[in-house]
Amino acid sequence: MDPLVSAFVVFYRRMVIFVDIILFFIKCVKCNTFLINISSFPWVKSASLAFLRSFYRLFVNRPQRNIHGEIALITGAGNGIGRHLSLQLSKLGVIVVAVDVNEEHNNETVDMIKRHGFPAFGYKCDISSREQVEELAREVKNDVGDVTILINNAGIQIIRPLGQYTPSQIEKTVAVNLLGQLWMVRAFLPRMVQMDRGSIVSVAALGGYGGFPNMIPFCASKFAVRGYMESLYLELRQERPNHNLHLMTVAPFIVDTGRVKGALIRFPGLINIVKAEDAARTIIVSMRRGETVLFLPGIYYYIQNFIRILPLRVQLLITDFVDTGVEIHYDNHDGTY
Ligand SMILES: *[C@@H]1O[C@H](CO)[C@@H](O)[C@H](O)[C@H]1NC(C)=O
Ligand SMILES: *[C@@H]1O[C@H](CO)[C@@H](O)[C@H](O)[C@H]1NC(C)=O
Repeated sequence: MDPLVSAFVVFYRRMVIFVDIILFFIKCVKCNTFLINISSFPWVKSASLAFLRSFYRLFVNRPQRNIHGEIALITGAGNGIGRHLSLQLSKLGVIVVAVDVNEEHNNETVDMIKRHGFPAFGYKCDISSREQVEELAREVKNDVGDVTILINNAGIQIIRPLGQYTPSQIEKTVAVNLLGQLWMVRAFLPRMVQMDRGSIVSVAALGGYGGFPNMIPFCASKFAVRGYMESLYLELRQERPNHNLHLMTVAPFIVDTGRVKGALIRFPGLINIVKAEDAARTIIVSMRRGETVLFLPGIYYYIQNFIRILPLRVQLLITDFVDTGVEIHYDNHDGTY
């Protein structure tokens, strides 16, 4: 990203938080003096502390957790981000369990890791099948051990107007992108809860935060991923207030995996395509720091949140101005569904 733009973004985000904090304390003090005694509202104190902590975290990143010796299961490990995640994690001393529906590509990933002298296990699994996922969980537990890092990366993306999808393409998109992740979480979360240890990283998409034309089933499935991750976060927090599990949702925009074709980008300096290798690196660093949301590129976190508070007409004008998207194309899958 352009250094000027990054500098501006950093400045902007710090200013917004700063003004928020000042306003918050002014309100607290006003309440205290004129209206109510805040000592009788302990949550105000906790909220102030939480706010101060977040403010501090804007300037000082959390340290990266050591993940050496952990077992990471990565779905969609046969290509793109999944393959790079597998390779990079293995270099950090993580035992990689590579999972993909395409056994040939998955074997390639496993072989690449082994060639570097690191341990790796490969399993063929269609995550949209609950039976296969349950079988996978049993086998991994027996052959490798307890998974403490689950990366729900596998997904399919078919781009065309709604009327041009076959019914089975729509079903497959939802079955892999949404149900597949739910089956995986359902199979691996209980053991993590039991051990009170583990990270679940789920790949949503920018299309899980805002709609895009020609991607209706995809966006629907990714909005749902974001919804189940947020709900899971709240449910765990409610059931076990002091748990040590970590959840992170990743929202990539256009990642160069070799699969996405016809990306249209009007301002490449502002909204650059992220390379799969760099995306994987950022995901691992963010996971080790215990972050909860990661946008790729990061600037989208701010664009997305900022645009949403504007009136719809203004949102649309900005969308037209930025004019970035993906072209319709018909050759991005093997035609089996
Ligand atoms: C505010 O409330 C606390 C505890 O409820 C009490 O000890 C304190 O005296 C109160 N302060 C004022 C200014 O009323
Ligand atoms: C992948 O590797 C496994 C184990 O080495 C082997 O049994 C299987 O035949 C391989 N599959 C393909 C498609 O290469």
